[in-house]
Amino acid sequence: MTLITRKFFNSAAVLAFAALAFGSSAQAEGNLTVYCSVQEEWCQSMVNEFQKATGITVAMTRKSSGETFAQVKAESANPKGDVWWGGTGDPHLQAAEEGLTEAYESPMLAKLHPWAVKQHETGKGATVGIYLGALGYGYNSELLEQKKIAAPACWADLIKPEFKGEVQIANPNSSGTAYTFLATMVQILGEEEAFKYMKALDGNINQYTKSGAAPAQAAARGETLVGIAFQHDVITPTITSNAPIKNVSPCEGTGFEVGSMSIIKGAPNLDNAKKWYDWALTPEAQKLGAASNSYQNPSNSEAPIPREAPKMADIKLIDYDFAKFGSSAERKRLLSRWDAEIGAK
Ligand code: F6P
Repeated sequence: MTLITRKFFNSAAVLAFAALAFGSSAQAEGNLTVYCSVQEEWCQSMVNEFQKATGITVAMTRKSSGETFAQVKAESANPKGDVWWGGTGDPHLQAAEEGLTEAYESPMLAKLHPWAVKQHETGKGATVGIYLGALGYGYNSELLEQKKIAAPACWADLIKPEFKGEVQIANPNSSGTAYTFLATMVQILGEEEAFKYMKALDGNINQYTKSGAAPAQAAARGETLVGIAFQHDVITPTITSNAPIKNVSPCEGTGFEVGSMSIIKGAPNLDNAKKWYDWALTPEAQKLGAASNSYQNPSNSEAPIPREAPKMADIKLIDYDFAKFGSSAERKRLLSRWDAEIGAK
């Protein structure tokens, strides 16, 4: 090597070191692949702000909770994703139990609400709670008036004959929302009665969607009278477009989700996955939910609860058994029973 080329290589090495040490180059910070299971707007804003804060380049794919679980499982021999952020907690717990995700003790755990830490403990460290949301449904008040139907207030109302063809919900295989609904009815009614209810409800369903929030959005647009969804998804269209959709907290009580985050086992960019994980648990990152029209309750105790968020204290919540309904055996069993008795008609 000549003196000049040696000098060139030495200074290139110094520059590369400086970039690594001081984070001056986005290139040097590397990449991260995020599987996101909340609404697109929130996914995008998380990605943009994380990139700005760290210089790490993020590739993001948005899919519903059950779909993402299936993808993580299908890729487990050759993982492509680093972090699964968002989506209902049950499939995250199933992934943890099946060894598809990685245990991680974030220094941010100390800042979280007990329900978020409990999710972490139930998943033996391989998942954590990032937000809380209650299930319910929305109805289009203009359509209701046109059709001269009395306003529904309970789960039981949705199987009445006047709601034939008027109710929409997602498919519980793809959607965590719809699985939460199935598990909620099993916990409220007992399994046999719950499946009778599901069958009766099936007679009133106009469409099973892929994504959990879609039925609320359809009700807001007047494409269905009722959309079963998380209550925060029901209220979003009234806030963004003053849509005539009314939120219902069913009279029998309702289930809820601990929206979760997990690091994928064998993540190609493990260090960056941990950086995302720690950052996503900060109040600054969690404020991006409300700023993107998503009104869940954040898990960091210092993050503000959005003013618009449905008030959890006013909702009759059941004591949802996450350990049971997030277990691999129970989720698989309930979904195959739903497929056999409801889905495969
Ligand atoms: O972002 C909206 C939301 O309802 C989340 O609260 C929830 O975790 C997720 O979507 C569930 O989506 P899906 O039912 O499509 O899996």
